[in-house]
Amino acid sequence: MTRILQISDLHIMPEGQLLNGTIDTAAALRQMLAGLTGLLPVIGPVERLVISGDLTETGCKGAYDHLCHIMADAPLPWRAIPGNHDSREAMRTFAAQDDWMPDDGPINWREDLEDVTILGLDTLVEGSAHGALTDATLDWLSATLRDLRHRPVLIFMHHPPVETGISGMDTIGLTPNPRFKALLRDHDGAVQIACGHVHRMITGQFAGRPVTIAPGTSHAVGLDLRMDAGITFIPGHSGAVMHDIGTECRTLLISSDDFC
Ligand SMILES: [Fe+2]
Repeated sequence: MTRILQISDLHIMPEGQLLNGTIDTAAALRQMLAGLTGLLPVIGPVERLVISGDLTETGCKGAYDHLCHIMADAPLPWRAIPGNHDSREAMRTFAAQDDWMPDDGPINWREDLEDVTILGLDTLVEGSAHGALTDATLDWLSATLRDLRHRPVLIFMHHPPVETGISGMDTIGLTPNPRFKALLRDHDGAVQIACGHVHRMITGQFAGRPVTIAPGTSHAVGLDLRMDAGITFIPGHSGAVMHDIGTECRTLLISSDDFC
């Protein structure tokens, strides 16, 4: 059994600043990391922590410096993919010492764990809130899946490939891409997709594959399913997700109520 923890949408600000002047995203991340650290003895062993995008709110160096300081207390080795609030080059500099970070191009990566291979896919379109998969990323994914043959795969990507019913978020979702759908449909092994972006636990299916959207670490997107509703934020409603993969696969929601 291989266990992977996922946190998402940290939205860290430069030190001393609050998100929208009200939400202390740094304090929320510190609480999340401390809570997960306390929980590890009863949910472990866990192999890896993956951050599924929006590491920072502003994409500026000051925010990544602040994040670097906070992540020093992470209880596990971690990897990350960019979200729409990130800046690819600032994020590359932030994680330049880590062997998973590519020297250039999209921030795609692969790690082979015991029961599953985890893949990170870069969906960032610099300067835009929506996401897209470039030809370079899909070429990389195609070659990687071909190499993996029947091996189970867990794909992390910030923008979900499914609509959520929250119209404000769906308008800034992933640009539909038939090639991506075909690659996932045609792969011989099991595939799961783990996303962020929506700050709310939602599950769905894409290309016949299960999709999980993780909650954020500090605030949720409001649950408003009316057509053309705007995006609202609710402080709290934070959580993490554990992917438990072996002969059986499970996806478990971890809420702050689980922290003692
Ligand atoms: Fe976000």
